[in-house]
Amino acid sequence: MSKPLPPCIERILFTEEQVQERVREVAASISEKYRGRELKLIGVLKGSVFFLTALARELDIPVKIDFLAISSFSNRASGSGVVRISKDLDESIEGEDVLLVEDIVDTGFTARYLLQTLASRGPNSLSLCTLLDRTTRRIVQIPVEFRCFEIPDRFVIGCGLDYKQLYRNLGFLAVMKPER
Ligand code: IMP
Ligand code: MG
Repeated sequence: MSKPLPPCIERILFTEEQVQERVREVAASISEKYRGRELKLIGVLKGSVFFLTALARELDIPVKIDFLAISSFSNRASGSGVVRISKDLDESIEGEDVLLVEDIVDTGFTARYLLQTLASRGPNSLSLCTLLDRTTRRIVQIPVEFRCFEIPDRFVIGCGLDYKQLYRNLGFLAVMKPER
């Protein structure tokens, strides 16, 4: 039996099966790039947790994981780009091959800040992988090496993405009805 959809959903953008299939494809590219090496996945709490674990399960290279959390004021309303780390990594990334795993790159402020901060810690390499990429709203240009889906300029939930901390656990990606 299928679960009832939350009433705030306008339409499903990508089904759970489509997400799984695409995550598998991107994981294959990542495994190919880092073949013969160890990869450290860095997740950004809390949005990237679901994507990171799905991705990690599909990788066939040795993988370590670590997390950081940020307080971000780069929200849609303010449009500003103030980001700070509220929970740092547990371990050093010096000399490691690091893949920053994001739920969505929107304006790019968050990813730019994190890439700059991580780069200053001396990793052997540093790249960015995101579940969703909304290039139409990009303000700062950043290198997105791996991405699962490009999405339109609509607020989306599911697969880790929240609205007021809800809906992260939906297995699919959905467009929300406009707020009233
Ligand atoms: P950026 O700094 O503008 O790239 O912000 C990205 C962050 O904004 C993401 O990590 C999300 O937390 C949040 N965000 C942006 N768009 C959406 C959306 O459509 N749904 C849920 N969160 C979003
Ligand atoms: Mg986020």
